[in-house]
Amino acid sequence: MKVLLLILVSLFMAANGYVSYRNYKLYEVVPNVDQYDGFSAWEGAPGVDFFKRKSAGRASTVLIAPEQQQEFEAFLRLNNILHNVIYQDYEVELEKEREQMAETRKTKSAFKIDGQADFSVFWSFTEMQSYLLGLRDRFPNLIQVENLAFSPEGRPIYAIKVSSNPIFGQRPIIAMETGMHAREWAAPPTTLYLIHKLVEDPVTSAELLARVDWLIIPMQNPDGYEFSRNTQRLWRQNRRNVTATCTGVDLNRNFAFTWRAATLSQPCGSQTYPGPSPLSEPEDYQLHHVVERYAGQVKMYLSVHTFGDLVLFPWGYTDAPGRIENWDELVNVGNIWRDAVLAATGKDYYVVNSLEYFGNINGAVDDHMLAIHGASITYTLELTDGFDFRYPEERILALAEETFIGYRSFGLYIGNRFG
Ligand SMILES: *[C@@H]1O[C@H](CO)[C@@H](O)[C@H](O)[C@H]1NC(C)=O
Ligand SMILES: [Zn+2]
Repeated sequence: MKVLLLILVSLFMAANGYVSYRNYKLYEVVPNVDQYDGFSAWEGAPGVDFFKRKSAGRASTVLIAPEQQQEFEAFLRLNNILHNVIYQDYEVELEKEREQMAETRKTKSAFKIDGQADFSVFWSFTEMQSYLLGLRDRFPNLIQVENLAFSPEGRPIYAIKVSSNPIFGQRPIIAMETGMHAREWAAPPTTLYLIHKLVEDPVTSAELLARVDWLIIPMQNPDGYEFSRNTQRLWRQNRRNVTATCTGVDLNRNFAFTWRAATLSQPCGSQTYPGPSPLSEPEDYQLHHVVERYAGQVKMYLSVHTFGDLVLFPWGYTDAPGRIENWDELVNVGNIWRDAVLAATGKDYYVVNSLEYFGNINGAVDDHMLAIHGASITYTLELTDGFDFRYPEERILALAEETFIGYRSFGLYIGNRFG
């Protein structure tokens, strides 16, 4: 009961229709090995939102509601944990973001006057839908749009299949998804842009469709995305009503491989609640099944998130039995991404094992696709270091171009190795 009350106290709808984060403070906290367990215990507590929980010695980022700040700061002081406040009032930052987006929308939408896609504005889900269905109508020989399932609120979840073969899936497949976490807005434009390049740019089509097929789910969590756009900016999960008092499951904790019941991990209502059972969420269930349908052909799987400049590789789960068998390959292929992006843009991705970097994450999609479906090369990519979940719209295109260099490097690698 106490838990519920605190949540009700700390989040309320402002007059503008958005849930307010007035006086929420964003902290950077760097616990050492001895301080780490005590610090981690805050995960899942009411009014505590880990933007990033990293392993000991690294800077975690955490947002704390006004009601919890006194206790949290007392804890940090008592334990002498290194920290600083990044923002005193996160709502001020969200106000700036909304103003900037309203300004952009005065002159822009997902489509320019000539009908071309405009990658300098965050698209609504409906705009993504029109873009993808329009592409399918214009390029039926290259792209299929499969509606895998409907989300709990009834939005279609599309798998985009791009191939220059009449039959999809005869070549090695690179599968990927963006938008699993609702608030990570900068990731979906990178896969939409990749689809744009594969289909609309003849040079890219010739190069990247010669030996590889692409299976892309650009918006894995459409309900959460729209909720984050219109109501609660920092929403992370899907929008299913699990019980009468609990809405939302972390889709990147709901996969079957090493899934951990909430009693062992995070309670319902916390940001990383894994759901009532493995693959309980329709969004994940269908993703599991579409990759299963092409298992054997899916050679690489990418789950793309923000933020950090990271190429993370398995295992990530608790008590993983040491290094994964193909550790060296995962490092080497990760470095193909890193080197390609570094040479082209100067941005330096860090290729690192998930468990080492974050500490344990159970029920995540990357481990699942590798262990269950045999996609031997899987990564979780974290884009946009230097920002949090807010990302300037005028930089979306540059991010999409930069990330495309990475996707292209993987496409060439998989084509050479398996094609
Ligand atoms: C969840 O419950 C709320 C409140 O009853 C309702 O408005 C909403 O439509 C439900 N969502 C889904 C996905 O069923
Ligand atoms: Zn994420």
